[in-house]
Amino acid sequence: MQIFDKKFNKNNISIKTILFLIKKYKTPFWLYCAENIKNKILQLKKFDTIRFAQKSCSNINILKIMRYEGVKVDAISLGEIERALTAGYNPKKNNDIVFTSDIFDKQTLKRIIDLNITVNIGSIDMIHQLGSISKGHNIWLRINPGFGHGHNKRTNTGGETSKHGIWYTDLKKSIYLIKKYNLNLIGIHMHIGSGVDYYHLQKVCNSMLNNVLKPYMPKIDIISAGGGLSIPYKERDIKVNTDHYFKLWNNTRNIINNFFKKNIKLEIEPGRFLVAESGILICQVCAIKNIKKKRFVIVDAGFNDLIRPVMYGSYHYISAISSKGKDMSNDLKINTIVAGPLCESGDIFTQLDNGEISYFMLPIVNLGDYLIFHDTGAYGASMSSNYNSRPLIPEILIENNIPKIIRRRQKIQELINLELF
Ligand code: LLP
Repeated sequence: MQIFDKKFNKNNISIKTILFLIKKYKTPFWLYCAENIKNKILQLKKFDTIRFAQKSCSNINILKIMRYEGVKVDAISLGEIERALTAGYNPKKNNDIVFTSDIFDKQTLKRIIDLNITVNIGSIDMIHQLGSISKGHNIWLRINPGFGHGHNKRTNTGGETSKHGIWYTDLKKSIYLIKKYNLNLIGIHMHIGSGVDYYHLQKVCNSMLNNVLKPYMPKIDIISAGGGLSIPYKERDIKVNTDHYFKLWNNTRNIINNFFKKNIKLEIEPGRFLVAESGILICQVCAIKNIKKKRFVIVDAGFNDLIRPVMYGSYHYISAISSKGKDMSNDLKINTIVAGPLCESGDIFTQLDNGEISYFMLPIVNLGDYLIFHDTGAYGASMSSNYNSRPLIPEILIENNIPKIIRRRQKIQELINLELF
């Protein structure tokens, strides 16, 4: 079996498989490897509960893998609740689904009450809205500890410029209201952003203690460490040490156990860590332009498919396979600007977070060759749009060496039909 780009191919996918799938489904498409996801789940098994932040990859077939592997699920919209239900999650069972948000809309609130879904509350208004119509409802509080940290300022979810969570000095008032409405507080949750380092992690653990070890705090059952675990997008990026991560949180939990004189559960809520490295995006080179000293390679996937580079300046390693199926990873490489087909000048995959163009050392590709964007399993397909009236592209899952389509390509007519009355 000939593997492409042995150095960066984290899923050992063969060139033969890629070419077979290209022939069958045409480019561009997403490809995931189930074994990679299962392996990542195993790395977090020390936590009592792993809850998948499905916004990172919300395909119901990925959710089914999570469910079979004993992973629970987070939902942040009505759509995500319905996805979780379709994937077989049972809201009545052990907090299978937790709804995390800073707001309720009427439709979502009704569904949550009908199904008795636990709510991770992110604003005081939500306490009033739920408490006044659903006595005894199980809730968590999401606390904004007063600081945050993210791989980019747009993924920082704590501190005074973040809209997320209940500001920590409002905790006492929240507990008062929870008691007044007879809501059942079972968990305290903190998520300060995506791409947490150990310094900030320790700070979050300390803050969890500062907030929970209070005389007015009811005896909760769970603390949640949120998500945010990073993955190595670049070769030199360091892998997160999950044992260390667990150790810090476990110490925190043990102190809380002592305080309440009971054993509470420790949850973790990752998205990226579980799915990012399982996914790749495969596309084809459609045009090459040389402008002065700049070389543009334009492919058939755009930021409507993969928006991370445009939105955050995110880096995704790119490999190339020739149209004839040759692995080009050892070919001579040159500085290349990789662009998409959209009618918008920012549709460039190689850019910094301030929008400035950067380059990728890409093999010298020709028209018809294929490019592969790595580590796109998280916030790839789930952040896609129909911009430029481009249909959503297929998602394919390889499990036990068998590829299976888990989302077909959207038809242009399906887009148009939404507007025909
Ligand atoms: N829990 C909560 C409450 C969250 O808001 C998030 C992510 C997670 C868990 C999972 O975070 P993760 O483990 O995946 O870092 N689109 C951005 C990431 C935005 C994350 C939003 N919330 C990106 O592509 O990097």
